[in-house]
Amino acid sequence: MKTEKGFSIADLKMNNRLVLAPMAAISDLPFRLLCRKQGASLCYTEMINAEAVARNNKSAFRLAESHPDDQPLGLQLFGARVESMEAAAKKLAGTEKFDFFDLNMGCPDGRVLRQGAGAALLRRETRACELVKAIKEAGKPVTVKVRLNPNVLNSIRVCKALEKAGVDCITVHGRTVKQKYSGPVDFVSIKRITKAVSIPVIANGNIRSRKDVKITLEKTGAAAVMIGRGAIGNPGIFADLQGHLAIKPINAMFNYLKLFEEFGMDKFGRKKTQVIRFLTKVKKQQVIELVQKAGTEEELEQALAELK
Ligand SMILES: Cc1cc2nc3c(=O)[nH]c(=O)nc-3n(C[C@H](O)[C@H](O)[C@H](O)COP(=O)(O)O)c2cc1C
Repeated sequence: MKTEKGFSIADLKMNNRLVLAPMAAISDLPFRLLCRKQGASLCYTEMINAEAVARNNKSAFRLAESHPDDQPLGLQLFGARVESMEAAAKKLAGTEKFDFFDLNMGCPDGRVLRQGAGAALLRRETRACELVKAIKEAGKPVTVKVRLNPNVLNSIRVCKALEKAGVDCITVHGRTVKQKYSGPVDFVSIKRITKAVSIPVIANGNIRSRKDVKITLEKTGAAAVMIGRGAIGNPGIFADLQGHLAIKPINAMFNYLKLFEEFGMDKFGRKKTQVIRFLTKVKKQQVIELVQKAGTEEELEQALAELK
């Protein structure tokens, strides 16, 4: 397995082939920094609502915040309206520090699909290409993250159209919308897409071990692999996948909390959810119950005190 070989997106060079997935309420700035320290060569923000950014919504801008150590970074947008997408991309390119945009074309959530966004764009090829072109107006490279269509020929056609519209890299989660997050990853379809386009493809789905990385890279011919759920509560997976000593989830949790404080993040609900995810990895059920009940910062501190 040659994860150390690296790969490129446009002019951007990554030093290995392990990428952290965009994950709502997970892939925030502190979490990305932890994953990078453990060896993720590229990270993405969680999906950010283009409509909210276009309306200057403060919370949406907060999701886009980064740091000089948080590079290279892809900023993921979701939306379906060309005008707001272009406005959002321009606003973010002018204020935030990141390397490229990513368009979400894989989210299977009903609220997103009903807007015609996320995975709904897999069936709206023309609109998807218009959105890509609108984002490109902001002057940065653009990538997309797709799921598979039930018919692989459709997937290939969409990916080729996206490439023609100017996309610099495609991440393929090798499942259909109907499959959501379970069932086998379709390596054959990812490989057919990889062969059909001339831009790099990142393969995504179910990577937890070095063997998974090796098999996914071999079977898909992808330039890199993207890791989602395997990293939740366990940023050390990136060290582990490269045969390096990994940080323990419990230590990662305390580092996460320190960074959360340092960056002045204030979403208590998010903090609690992340803490529970780290604790789930170390099977601290009693502490998890205390954390779940915590309604204030003090109660959360108390719940975690015995772990220090
Ligand atoms: C909690 C959670 C949040 C997610 N949020 C996003 C998101 O914001 N944008 C996106 O493109 N995909 C999102 N995904 C999908 C992941 O990026 C990834 O494609 C999927 O989990 C499959 O990879 P895995 O098997 O390694 O988890 C999310 C997945 C999870 C579990």
